[in-house]
Amino acid sequence: MDVSKLPQLNAALNATSAFLLTLGYIFIRQRAIKAHTMCMVSACATSTLFLISYITYHVHHGSTPFQGQGLVRFLYFGILISHTVLAVLVLPLAVRTLYQGLRGNFAKHVPIARLTLPIWLYVSVTGVVVYWMLYHGKF
Ligand code: HEM
Repeated sequence: MDVSKLPQLNAALNATSAFLLTLGYIFIRQRAIKAHTMCMVSACATSTLFLISYITYHVHHGSTPFQGQGLVRFLYFGILISHTVLAVLVLPLAVRTLYQGLRGNFAKHVPIARLTLPIWLYVSVTGVVVYWMLYHGKF
């Protein structure tokens, strides 16, 4: 199985999630509930596809070592570790946020959503940053 294009796909899926989350937030600030729901459900679908593609890549290819040395290496691993820890944390938060939203339980949805959204955004954006540093950075 040729998995060489999956890191690009993964970065594109992360960027799409970040875009949908931002758009979904803008919609709810304008009280556009249907558009908010569509964006957030699509962000969940995109992140689920990312997870499947990410696991497929790592099962078939293993990890790619970072070549940079010195300060940039600390920066890279700082971003990678915070990205990974928060990615694990955001999974149950996203499920709960979506569940409360779809049930119409907004008294519970809003407080947890305000925690989930920035963490999820951080994870999506740093996913793209890690991809860029690993495959395109000239260090
Ligand atoms: C996991 C996906 C979701 C995330 C990350 C999310 C995020 C948010 C955030 C951050 C807010 C608060 C906005 C503010 O600060 O004013 C909010 C409010 C809201 N969300 Fe979601 N949301 C998600 C899914 C949904 C779904 C599926 C629905 C379905 C109806 C929904 C309906 C609403 C409504 C109606 C509000 C406004 C509640 C109020 O102000 O009383 N959300 N959401």
